[in-house]
Amino acid sequence: MSSSLKIAMISSECAPFAKTGGLADVVGALPQALRALGHEVIVIMPKYASIDAQKHELRPFLAPLGVWMGNTEEWCAAYVTEKYGVPVYFIESQQYFDRSGLYHDVEFNDYLDNPRRFAFLTRAALQLCRDMGFAPDIVHAHDWQAALAPAYLKVWHWNDAVLGRAASVLTIHNIGYQGVYPASHYDYIGLQWSNFVSDKFEAHGAINFLKGGIQYADMVNTVSPTYANETRTPEHGCGMAPYLNNKGENYIGILNGVDYSEWNPAVDRLIPARYTPQDLAGKAVCKRELQRRFNLAVDSHIPVIGVVSRFVDQKGLDVLAGAVENIIKSMQAQFVILGSGDKTLEWYYGGLPARYPGYIGSYIGYSNELAHWIEAGSDFFIMPSLYEPCGLNQIYSLKYGTLPIVRATGGLEDTVQQYDEATGRGTGFKFWEPSPHAIYYTVGWAVSTFFDRPPHHRQMMQQAMAQDYSWENSARAYEAAYHRALRNRG
Ligand code: ADP
Ligand code: GLC
Repeated sequence: MSSSLKIAMISSECAPFAKTGGLADVVGALPQALRALGHEVIVIMPKYASIDAQKHELRPFLAPLGVWMGNTEEWCAAYVTEKYGVPVYFIESQQYFDRSGLYHDVEFNDYLDNPRRFAFLTRAALQLCRDMGFAPDIVHAHDWQAALAPAYLKVWHWNDAVLGRAASVLTIHNIGYQGVYPASHYDYIGLQWSNFVSDKFEAHGAINFLKGGIQYADMVNTVSPTYANETRTPEHGCGMAPYLNNKGENYIGILNGVDYSEWNPAVDRLIPARYTPQDLAGKAVCKRELQRRFNLAVDSHIPVIGVVSRFVDQKGLDVLAGAVENIIKSMQAQFVILGSGDKTLEWYYGGLPARYPGYIGSYIGYSNELAHWIEAGSDFFIMPSLYEPCGLNQIYSLKYGTLPIVRATGGLEDTVQQYDEATGRGTGFKFWEPSPHAIYYTVGWAVSTFFDRPPHHRQMMQQAMAQDYSWENSARAYEAAYHRALRNRG
């Protein structure tokens, strides 16, 4: 197990350069953890217009880089930074990546050429390995955007001097996004029409990037054990269940870790005051400042419930919308909400502070600093997700002593232990039914624990803060998956 591996990761996001969600956090942190285990890792991603090249110390690395798209060779350039330890390479292409958004314009309309953009990224990433002589043992592809990589390796590079040893691992961060596009896109993908069949890239007459990736990858994983089981069923597999089941033991769940150098109240430089399980005085300061910043009644005796989320269907915020006002009208509680996405939800949550002044605060937009403030200053953190492959915010919440209130699905089920009212054991509050009713009663349970059973609340905070989801364990699980992929390829 201990032999050192060379690993090339391909991803559309990586923190701190470009982020829309947890994928970026994972691709930012996992390579560092693998490196600490003695592996050599590089990351390859697009050079989006929004990336601050100066701040992150990007330098030109290689140009021109020729990339075959169908029968045409297209040209790009590669940049690199080593500022954060693990080298991160950036594919620069004015045509594909010189835009403000990662996947969509400011109106949240997907760019129409997304399949072409990410096919290009994937081909360019493999070409970059060849041109610089980086011979990976493992090519690790993340989500549909990189899911062509396993197929390219097998179809084009099986005997290649540089790529010919590489086994592939595909990580599915969210099976709700598969990269499904009209068959007319197939030509430039360059994978021969013999691969456009229903047990590979074809699905209902369209191209499905993720499906082909699942079929070709030597190992496939998702980001929690429960989500791995759920996606094996028709209900949650979004059409992929048969193919995932076909993988047998080569489809597994590996829980994400979190980066405790970023998300830990003992060292967090973004929050008003630091605190530890032994000394929680700083948490009271964080709560007060949070209430102040969001124009809430400043009162330590009112529990604050936090939300930080992308506003997309997956997150169940429309269900929460059916409960929030009843909660505010009938319980002593406040809400602080941060997020953006769906315009109707933005309008709804953005309008609540005016209707419930002093009790609901919201900020529609993206702010890493506010995300840290909410984790630190809230008493509870709610995630009513309809499905959740892993979820990172609830794991951050645990470390901040901010008890999660979650729907028991995917990674939420795996990381939150249900409160036991008889003993005070547990780290949060779980419900099953995706309904306003269930949310209302579970929030009521949490709020009554806050008021009526303060020793239990304190005990739960201690138990939550003692949880350890650092990357080392997850990195070891990936290490095992890599070795298995190598055996499978052999
Ligand atoms: P997902 O990737 O599905 O959005 P995760 O819980 O895995 O869910 O990760 C979400 C990440 O994105 C967290 O780091 C969270 O703090 C961050 N995030 C989401 N929305 C916002 C926002 N509006 N402002 C700042 N950070 C956000
Ligand atoms: C996806 C999932 C989220 C997961 C993240 C990182 O965005 O929605 O649950 O935590 O990927 O793996």
